Amino acid sequence: KALSVPSLLLRSTSSMQGFSELARERSKTVTSFYNQSAIDASAEKSSAKYLHKELPVRIAHRIKGFRSLPFIIGCNPTILQVHELYIRAYHMLVDFPPIKDQDVEARFCKLVQQLLDDHKDVVTMLAQGFRECRKHVQDETILRNFLDTTLCSRLGIRMLATHHLALHEDNPDFVGIICRRLSPKKIIEKWVDFARRLCEHQYGNAPRVRINGHVAARFPFIPLPLDYVLPELLKNAMRATMESHLDTPYNVPDVVVTIANNDIDFVIRISDRGGGIPHNIVDKVMDYHFSTAEESAQDPRMSNLFNNITNSGNQSSPMHGFGFGLPTSRAYAEYLGGSLSIQSMQGIGTDVYLRLRHIDGKGESFRV
Ligand SMILES: Nc1ncnc2c1ncn2[C@@H]1O[C@H](COP(=O)(O)OP(=O)(O)O)[C@@H](O)[C@H]1O
Ligand SMILES: [Mg+2]
Repeated sequence: KALSVPSLLLRSTSSMQGFSELARERSKTVTSFYNQSAIDASAEKSSAKYLHKELPVRIAHRIKGFRSLPFIIGCNPTILQVHELYIRAYHMLVDFPPIKDQDVEARFCKLVQQLLDDHKDVVTMLAQGFRECRKHVQDETILRNFLDTTLCSRLGIRMLATHHLALHEDNPDFVGIICRRLSPKKIIEKWVDFARRLCEHQYGNAPRVRINGHVAARFPFIPLPLDYVLPELLKNAMRATMESHLDTPYNVPDVVVTIANNDIDFVIRISDRGGGIPHNIVDKVMDYHFSTAEESAQDPRMSNLFNNITNSGNQSSPMHGFGFGLPTSRAYAEYLGGSLSIQSMQGIGTDVYLRLRHIDGKGESFRV
């Protein structure tokens, strides 16, 4: 793909006899800068080689993590299933031949894609498995450490793998999984639409969401972690809003999202008027598996509303899960050099602050 730069170069110097030869020479070099297919191919090859070496190492650490779980947990069938998925992935990667040419590289991409698919339900499986057997362990910190480490490591592995696959795609807005000009407002809007649809399905209505602050901000960032965290936080805010206004479901206060951008990081604050997090549970909401979902499902007013307004059962993706939304979001934010903090104004509502470091900022960035 020769761009127009060389011909421009030629034209500007061609009037000068004697220089034209030189200019033509130079233009050849310039042309080669833009003729990238060879460069692309070797970049992809080296990225594949890196993954081929790096992924088994990371996966081996995860397998060690499963092995050092308390026996009673390691024997849970669902946990075992995940453990086996990791062992299988390890062998498939280690048994893969060296990446010598583009053919092998293409096959390697297929393998990576297949592994991404095989592992897509791992978080749900871990949540399910640990819920069944966590009562058998006294020391909660073992579980928290295992889940924090495993989930963040998984995020890192998936970012590397997806990045490699995305390098093959020709999207001018992206370099791999890095969006060159990510608009926080746009990505928030995308997940607002998603969460409102779920919320309407479950409660018959959903709060409106106003976005303010640095709504025009754009900067390079990786959407992938936001694609996990934003829907979780928005669902929580909407659920709290609806459940604290069960008597007036068609007249509920807005959720307000504020964006603050600066040289070092950016902050997304999600404020709801859903009554806040009661004093007696505010210390627990960051625990894996802590959820008030069970109670609300048993609330008779809730099930009335549920039956009247939606006559479908629970086929849709739910507004709450296993109590993994907040702890996982915080683990991801910290893994990326940021933080997630909660301010509850009991009786009024909740503010959740998601803070993330820029990848090209003045401050220290993060490593995946
Ligand atoms: N914005 C909020 N307002 C009030 N309570 C909240 C809010 N966000 C979270 N919570 C409480 O924290 C609990 C844990 O949240 P989360 O980790 O997302 O799990 P889940 O949504 O599956 O219950 C929720 O069940 C709810 O009781
Ligand atoms: Mg939640």
